[in-house]
Amino acid sequence: MGVVALVPAAGRGERLGYGMPKALVPVDGVPLLARAVRGLLASGRVQHVVIAAPPSDVDTVSTVTAPLAQAGGAVHVVAGGAERSDSVRLALEHALREIPDTSIVLVHDAARAFTPPEVVRAVVDAVAAGHPAVIPVLPVADTVKQVDANGVVVATPDRAVLRVVQTPQGFDARVLLRAHESGLHATDDAGLVERLGVPVVTVPGHQDAMKITTRFDLAVAEALLARPGG
Ligand code: CTP
Ligand code: MG
Repeated sequence: MGVVALVPAAGRGERLGYGMPKALVPVDGVPLLARAVRGLLASGRVQHVVIAAPPSDVDTVSTVTAPLAQAGGAVHVVAGGAERSDSVRLALEHALREIPDTSIVLVHDAARAFTPPEVVRAVVDAVAAGHPAVIPVLPVADTVKQVDANGVVVATPDRAVLRVVQTPQGFDARVLLRAHESGLHATDDAGLVERLGVPVVTVPGHQDAMKITTRFDLAVAEALLARPGG
């Protein structure tokens, strides 16, 4: 059973505004991408990592991530695409072409650099137990409103049945390929799979698996590292 993690890291990081791809932005001297890959390999469940890098930064990303392979997994770097879904598809095609026995695929944002290894293990183990699609989730803390085009509230969904979705999202490799070949569109990989009619199950996520999007999030990440035992 081969477990391959795809890491979309080809975004420009415009909201963070660092003038470099977000994946390469350091926190305490270590780029977000390196932290994300390290967490995947530390789970002990991932044999290969395929990173989708910004096309102009493939060499830099290879240099930054090559030493991580010593942590017990092979690291591959491919050029990403214009949208996140293109980057995932390019990494998936590489995995299915180049890595024999790819049966379980994780998709994990480089921007979720502090995801604890136990979340990775929970996702892999649920896919290995026979669930074709698995996502880590958290309860919703705020009340959520649905609004119309004018910003007027039209509904208040019951918060108790809502979840916030994180990564890594885990899939049977054939199911994820079918989802990406379907021509459907969704804001995440599980959304694509859901549209195929495949059941998507949830496992507990973790607050540390937050996505780093803005300067505020980066400040939170720095605070995470400053915790005792950080
Ligand atoms: N991503 C990617 N390929 C793209 C766009 C995004 O691989 N064409 C990746 C990002 O590198 C990130 C993840 O998808 O790891 C989630 O995207 P997001 O948080 O939006 O990151 P960026 O696109 O880099 O940020 P921004 O939208 O602020 O430019
Ligand atoms: Mg983006």
